[in-house]
Amino acid sequence: MSEPSPQPATTHPAEGSAPAGSPEQDGLPADFLRGASAAAQSAARQFSAELLCFGPGVEVILAAVAAEPDEPRLQLLAAILQLYALDPAGQRQASVHLAAAKAASGCLDRFGRELLEALSPWQAGEYGLALLRLELLCVSHREALLPLKLIEWLCFCRGQELHGPRLLERSQQLAQVFPDHPDRLAIGSFALELCGCLEEARALAEAAIAARPDNAWADHTLSHWALRSGRLEEGLCQQQGRCHTWVRTSAGLRVHNLWHLALLHLALGDGLAAEAVLDELLAGALPEHGLLPTGELIDLIALGWRLELVGRRQENLWERLRPHLGERSSEPLLPFLAVHYAWLLGRSGDQPALAKLLAGGERLAGAPGLETSWSWASGGLELVRGVGAAAAGRRGEACAVLVPQGGRLRFGGGSDAQVQVLSQTLDWLERQGCA
Ligand SMILES: [Fe+2]
Repeated sequence: MSEPSPQPATTHPAEGSAPAGSPEQDGLPADFLRGASAAAQSAARQFSAELLCFGPGVEVILAAVAAEPDEPRLQLLAAILQLYALDPAGQRQASVHLAAAKAASGCLDRFGRELLEALSPWQAGEYGLALLRLELLCVSHREALLPLKLIEWLCFCRGQELHGPRLLERSQQLAQVFPDHPDRLAIGSFALELCGCLEEARALAEAAIAARPDNAWADHTLSHWALRSGRLEEGLCQQQGRCHTWVRTSAGLRVHNLWHLALLHLALGDGLAAEAVLDELLAGALPEHGLLPTGELIDLIALGWRLELVGRRQENLWERLRPHLGERSSEPLLPFLAVHYAWLLGRSGDQPALAKLLAGGERLAGAPGLETSWSWASGGLELVRGVGAAAAGRRGEACAVLVPQGGRLRFGGGSDAQVQVLSQTLDWLERQGCA
């Protein structure tokens, strides 16, 4: 499976002067921002460009929308930022932004209206419907890369490996328009990895790095490639040689790439080195005030979880992370997130909080809507229950609940590397004995 033959690279026109339909390097179509203030255009384009590479400057959109609350295009983009937070506060804030965008939707062009139609079900937890609409947006606006980036995230929400072919198809379609775009190449490389096209994924990730040497998302593909192909020493060496560039990416991606680096240590049997990465992450990632963002929290839990599965107990970790859960533990959004919260709560011995987490999952499993049949009611709830039982030491219950779900481990969300912890937990339970 290869990239379509690239057409001659297009020239990026001056900002704001591109005719409709010409490719924009920052991810947004030219017409979308027509008539907006110069400040709004600048913030919107910066936000989009930063999101495409998981850069550190996405929060520019919050100040911009606060300054121009009547600008629906800023409201839409601010909603995206909040949806990426994957927490209840972000969900509520996204709802406010989307309501404001809807109230002024008469000012939106077709791209803006279709984006609003995709973000609304996303905010409501209907990820499958949102994904379909973003795929249509991708088809109708091939000059814009932002929908492809959003598709990548929704694929993560619904199980990234299972949705790899959909991401790959959209990425390859846009390869004709953006043959050399470093972020399109990075997304395409990850899609190839998710589909198991490992050497093609590696080649495209290297092309993405050649197109822009600071490309932490392409490094991320290479880490996935190393883990899945078993080229562990080579991958570890490569990542160690690249990690100095991650200071210029978002905190979330830096933590995630270091988490991947720790996985390579673990796969090589070096639990001590993986633990050293965890210590480094704890020293740098825990905020003095407020809660850890969801992505960082998940990665820290996952690393401690995996270390415990190989016999390295992490009692202090659970004490330190427990206060960071906040209301996420009763409003878990995705089964993939909830299994991590369940491990943390089970290992903390906090049965009342674990019961609240399960009650939150039960509400989602019983909610009307298309998404219910995909994840929560079709195994997601059992995954959370089983992981919570395993973490709390109730191995018999954990086995009884988790073993029948073996075929659905990838349906609750997360990437191929991330959901590996579930199959590792099943293996661990079998080693420990289910009685
Ligand atoms: Fe990853």
